[in-house]
Amino acid sequence: MRLNLKIWRQAGPNAAGRLVDYVAENVSPDMSFLEMLDVVNESLLRKGEESIAFDSDCREGICGMCSLVVNGVPHGPDRGTTVCQLHMRRFKDGDTITIEPWRARAFPVVKDLVVDRSAFDRIIAAGGYVSINCGGAPDGNAIPIPKDVAEAAMDSAQCIACGACVAACKNASAHLFMSAKISQLALLPQGDAERERRVVAMIEQADAEGFGSCSNEAECEAVCPKEIPISNIAKMTREYVRAVLAAK
Ligand code: FES
Repeated sequence: MRLNLKIWRQAGPNAAGRLVDYVAENVSPDMSFLEMLDVVNESLLRKGEESIAFDSDCREGICGMCSLVVNGVPHGPDRGTTVCQLHMRRFKDGDTITIEPWRARAFPVVKDLVVDRSAFDRIIAAGGYVSINCGGAPDGNAIPIPKDVAEAAMDSAQCIACGACVAACKNASAHLFMSAKISQLALLPQGDAERERRVVAMIEQADAEGFGSCSNEAECEAVCPKEIPISNIAKMTREYVRAVLAAK
């Protein structure tokens, strides 16, 4: 396949960016989207030009590093898929593909297609954990958890913190990300003791980072590669109200 690419190039956080046209030749339908970009980069390097910066690590949908908006959709056209799992067979010979970074004030562009997502780390550091005194590993049967509760917690735990929910949201809200973490920990007995402090601290940190609020349009759910449902946001809101009432 021969593809026309329009790729966002930006030299640094404070530099002006623009879409630059490239042609990708001899693209195999079996290539992943990131492998296609690797091939484009190799051809740029052969010509003595600067390669296109983009993030990736696991390339199998686990780490949440890949963060490309493909034709206006975070992670591209396939539902429940990270962009590293997207394959070129999804496109046709002669297609034009526009590739941009996540767009959100809280995710500033570092270079080209790479954004700084450390705001998510600071939200987790504000409360997205369980404080425990480490001792010997307890017997698994000492803390019985009903199967449906354990499964709901594991469903929420699938969030890979890629930030696609923020990139898709017109408010640049981090609610789906936060609510997945808050639901997971609030559902389990290990997280119960800190649930009130946690939800308040994480929401305050998200506000401080510049993420917006939720207006229930579900764009986040539509692009989430792990298909985390927005029912988690409703749970987070209940957790927040419960925490505020408990503090009175
Ligand atoms: S590179 Fe790890 S999820 Fe895409």
